[in-house]
Amino acid sequence: MKDQNSWSLDSWRKKHAAQQPEYKALEQLETCLQQVKAYPPLVFEGEVDSLKSELAEASVGKKFLLQGGDCAERFQDCNRNTIMNKINILLQMSVVLCYGSRRPVIRVGRIAGQYGKPRSNKTEEVNGTELPVYRGDNVNSFEAETKLREPDPSRLLQGYHLSALTLNYIRALSSGGFADLHHPDNWNLDFVAKSPHWPRYEEIVLNIKNAITFMETIGYKDTFLSGVDFYTSHEGLILPYEEALTKKSSLNGKYYNLGAHMLWIGDRTRQLDGAHIEYFRGIANPIGIKVGPSADPSDLVKAIEMLNPGHEMGRITLITRFGAGKASNHLPQLIKAVTDADLPVCWSCDPMHGNAIKTKNNIKTRDFNAILNELKETFAVHLKLGTHLGGVHFELTGDNVTECTGGSEGITDADLSRSYQTYCDPRLNYSQSLEMAFLISSMLEEEAKP
Ligand code: PEP
Ligand code: CO
Repeated sequence: MKDQNSWSLDSWRKKHAAQQPEYKALEQLETCLQQVKAYPPLVFEGEVDSLKSELAEASVGKKFLLQGGDCAERFQDCNRNTIMNKINILLQMSVVLCYGSRRPVIRVGRIAGQYGKPRSNKTEEVNGTELPVYRGDNVNSFEAETKLREPDPSRLLQGYHLSALTLNYIRALSSGGFADLHHPDNWNLDFVAKSPHWPRYEEIVLNIKNAITFMETIGYKDTFLSGVDFYTSHEGLILPYEEALTKKSSLNGKYYNLGAHMLWIGDRTRQLDGAHIEYFRGIANPIGIKVGPSADPSDLVKAIEMLNPGHEMGRITLITRFGAGKASNHLPQLIKAVTDADLPVCWSCDPMHGNAIKTKNNIKTRDFNAILNELKETFAVHLKLGTHLGGVHFELTGDNVTECTGGSEGITDADLSRSYQTYCDPRLNYSQSLEMAFLISSMLEEEAKP
């Protein structure tokens, strides 16, 4: 007889699954899922295991995690420039962070599958009309038409195809002499140079250039600059789809979600008795858990025990997102609970999701300084309690959008409409992201001082 606690690929179906699309075309859904299941995986379990070992190192301060990308990837952005620009900014940030932290940086994109979104409300008002809410391109269309907001199962297939195309290009870029893009000579520093902190940033750039020249001179050019590791991640939200992406490994008999290297559980779907925790506890991938102000310390400990009963290093990354001014209230008790329970985790900070505000004109934005302040606050709490901040998590793009205010470009509320492209949350643009990396790099350098 099956143990009540035994896990199977579909055991999540017996629990309540929050934030799921309500499909009407159930037969079509089944056909699409069968097709996804039949396709070759996007990633290989060996890569997933490598990321887990790298995250184990980040949890003890030997590496640093940079995770970033769109809030909601859009199907229409599956093109050369958008992908290249995103990889470009993530690589450049990783070089800056590597310099400051004196640690190798693990690069994880919110990319090649970040197509499903949890939402606070089931409906939204667009131009005076009440519509079913947009749940990401994997589910429905952003277009403001009731019919197009119906969950459409064929979008899951399209999402899979576009994830494969995206990842294929990322792999080409990462292995095919992509060095130029993360070489400081190719950084666009026009706006960053307007910052009052420029002399400090310039010093970092010069030091990195000198280090690279030195590496090239002594013959490390190829290994150091030509091939880079790049991992993918998305929120594991739409469970029938995540189930279809999950395979039993013929190498070790474990189940892996082979649609991404890392998956995370959102702040809205981490209920202890919910379907998401049930699904996630059976897969071997590294798992992120978003931790917001509603997280109860003892529940968080229980969630980690359920997801990682063997206390495997690198398995759990806690991504805290409280908002500036709130981290120092919420974070210490969570750190204490996790530390007292002796649970190995990698602490990361998402300074984006607790800092959303609306302008007078009702535009959703985030301010550069609030984002920076939550990071500073989080660093300070970890320093005080003797834990490591092992990584950072951003919503960003390599394009020059105007979605977040502030930064050296001086984007104001009035500038937002100029190039506001996101379908969901506002992202840091190219120069805001690079500047943020300089600022974090300086914090890491301070932290590394004896
Ligand atoms: C997200 O990462 O886009 C998101 C919805 O985050 P959270 O679950 O932390 O709200
Ligand atoms: Co978001």
